Amino acid sequence: MNKQFGHFDDSAREYVITRPDTPWPWINYLGTEDFFSLVSNTAGGYCFCKDAKFRRILRYRYNGVPADAGGRYFYIKDANGVWNPGWKPCKTPLDHYECRHGMGYTSITGERNGLLANLLLFVPPGRRCEVHRLRLTNRGWTQKSFQVYSFLEWCLWNASTDMENFQRNLSTGEVEVEPDALYHKTEYRERRNHYAFYGVNRPFDGFDTDRETFLGLYNGFEAPQQVLSGTSGNSLAHGWSPVASQRFDLSLAPGESTELIFVLGYVENPQDKKFSAPGVINKAPAREMMAAFATPAQVEAAFQDLKSFWDGLLGRFTLSSSIPELDRTVNVWNQYQCMITFFMSRSASYFESGIGRGMGFRDSNQDLAGIVHLIPERARQRILDIAATQFPDGGCYHQYQPLTKRGNNDIGGGFNDDPLWLLFGTVTYIRETGDFAILQEPVPFDNRPGTEVSLMEHLKISFKHVTDHLGPHGLPLIGRADWNDCLNLNCFSWNPDESFQTTENKSEGSKAESLMIAGLFVAEGKDFAELLAHPAVSADPAYIGEVRAAVAAMEEAVKRDGWDGEWFLRAYDYDGRKIGSHENEEGQIFIESQGWCTMARIGAEEGLCDKALDATVERLECTHGIVLNTPAYTRYFPEYGEISSYPQGYKENAGIFCHNNPWVIIGEAMAGRAADAWRHYRKITPAFVKDQQLRKVEPYVFCQMVAGKDAARPGEGKNSWLTGTAAWTWKAVSEALLGIKPQLDGLLVEPCLPAEVGTYKVHRRFREAEYELTIRLTGKGGSRFIPYQPGRQVLELEF
Ligand code: BGC
Ligand code: NOJ
Repeated sequence: MNKQFGHFDDSAREYVITRPDTPWPWINYLGTEDFFSLVSNTAGGYCFCKDAKFRRILRYRYNGVPADAGGRYFYIKDANGVWNPGWKPCKTPLDHYECRHGMGYTSITGERNGLLANLLLFVPPGRRCEVHRLRLTNRGWTQKSFQVYSFLEWCLWNASTDMENFQRNLSTGEVEVEPDALYHKTEYRERRNHYAFYGVNRPFDGFDTDRETFLGLYNGFEAPQQVLSGTSGNSLAHGWSPVASQRFDLSLAPGESTELIFVLGYVENPQDKKFSAPGVINKAPAREMMAAFATPAQVEAAFQDLKSFWDGLLGRFTLSSSIPELDRTVNVWNQYQCMITFFMSRSASYFESGIGRGMGFRDSNQDLAGIVHLIPERARQRILDIAATQFPDGGCYHQYQPLTKRGNNDIGGGFNDDPLWLLFGTVTYIRETGDFAILQEPVPFDNRPGTEVSLMEHLKISFKHVTDHLGPHGLPLIGRADWNDCLNLNCFSWNPDESFQTTENKSEGSKAESLMIAGLFVAEGKDFAELLAHPAVSADPAYIGEVRAAVAAMEEAVKRDGWDGEWFLRAYDYDGRKIGSHENEEGQIFIESQGWCTMARIGAEEGLCDKALDATVERLECTHGIVLNTPAYTRYFPEYGEISSYPQGYKENAGIFCHNNPWVIIGEAMAGRAADAWRHYRKITPAFVKDQQLRKVEPYVFCQMVAGKDAARPGEGKNSWLTGTAAWTWKAVSEALLGIKPQLDGLLVEPCLPAEVGTYKVHRRFREAEYELTIRLTGKGGSRFIPYQPGRQVLELEF
């Protein structure tokens, strides 16, 4: 059975979900600066400010049963029972349900017995709050009297200890209550200078702040005792679990509407202004925030601001083609996902708990490639933050913490691809912006003041880190792992309590080398040399010569010792044995080295790239995309590590790891193989995927992994939203397929799409220029360089 759960509304830039029981919660993100929220199609989820672990505002239960428990719930109690506009948690059948996920907002509508409830949720730009506008309309013929309860549950700030340290937690909760607002001031008495509140634009008729009083100890969210009895406990939480619930006793005449406006806010006070009286929190900033959203007109204005924010951004690159799936991906959802991924890194999604992972060195450098054309100044800052976590030898912390921007000691460094991603990020940034001045910015090592050198020096040591760490074949030593951080060639773990990510039981004398890093080095090395030689940089010619020579030497090493006859090898293991060779029993061919070596065009003249791409199509491509490796590992190989810990067809063990499919797409495009490139692209792009039930996760965003051909349910998606797939598919579609390629001095237009795609128009903002391009595909190919010059340029081009 292939049920449909929703559809795109392109002109509104919304995805419309038409039934609440989606195969998995389908979520959206709210927020553009430092206050962010996750909201599912049934109003589940949570929010945080700045850091999803240390400043978690709402409690959320990963692994909870039923799924997606906790969020911003509104209960409506009328003569016919209790229901929620978003269906959950009561799951009372609705006469009508619709959820619209838009750009930074979600609108959920439920209707039952003529009472229509619409809940609009958004985070206003420049504010640290969620606005919940609940609009109630009596669509019946008679007067309706009913009660509305709001409900949310506070997290005790640190999302990790919130789930662990109950001997303490159950005694710390503190609240304050005003006639129209409930304050969560847990731990404010001591070191915290922040509190949260849930306010509303009219006094409530009752409230609860203690979970047990509101729900009843043995009830779930679906049966709150106070709602069932139509009462409020007016409870003051002392310890246990603080919540916020407000009750309103309402009555609407036929045709009448009313709006309740809730503000779920976060406030930080200066140390000397924490209290207005001993033990009483300074509520002035909360009051100010509530006052900003006290009337429907204010909310509407803020909502329009949010819309303008996204209109402005998404107006910078627009496509009009004959293929709606392509247009909606390019114009809306791919760019939107790039923004979200850039904001969140890998911290908070319905698959990432917001606790474990900081900002990844490699992840962030790749993520910025998806947003640099939209918010270049934020990409700039990100590059400088990332570079500041580098060590003087060019190695770097694998992650840093968003609150402190300091490297994460728990994971450390030693991932030998990491330094090269700084070259990638910086070159990408300069090509988009022309901002060569960033290269002169002083950047410290390991965030230690006084150690500053220019960003350019950081790039040089990044490059050098690879040439300083070559293995027996002249190929890059892999270190802890390369991009595939589950290929742990120096780990050799037999202890299930060891982390594959951080354990190196052997590395002295390791011969483990990576062809993925080799390809990355050649590709980025060529770009680096081009940057160095640019008149705005004009680096020492001797140094440029060294860079070019190192790149050439690497190409030779790959051709000599990295070629398996039909495809590129993947690696050499600790003992110098091949990985990703026809000589192996399992794991004979891997995608990463095919992608990177073909993007680097290694051995292109000798036909190696075409052969490697043919082998990829023959062996790795399946119905739903290109799997990471084949044959999948069927047992644990201690010499390979985590990759072989996954059952066949999942994640790094022969899953369709969507992040690396675009590498092949770009490699195909560089080889001029338009039909292959286009087919690979459509397989992984959600707008082209028909079976929503099978794919399971949101049909509007890429997921990190789709189960591969060896899995139990090939085609089933997991890990949606936060994935390098977003930025890489953006690069693949905007640059490799549609052919709009930013260069240091202008735009290179070089499409690679089958002629049947026909004619398309691209509007592209590039620095201070606006390009209006009409591109006619006739099959003849070619490219056209348009030197940068500010102003509007209208061009009709044929390829
Ligand atoms: C996952 C990888 C991830 C790594 C680091 C592994 O378990 O399979 O995709 O990058 O953990 O968190
Ligand atoms: C997810 C990680 O975030 C990323 O850094 C890594 O490259 C991929 N998994 C592949 O293992």
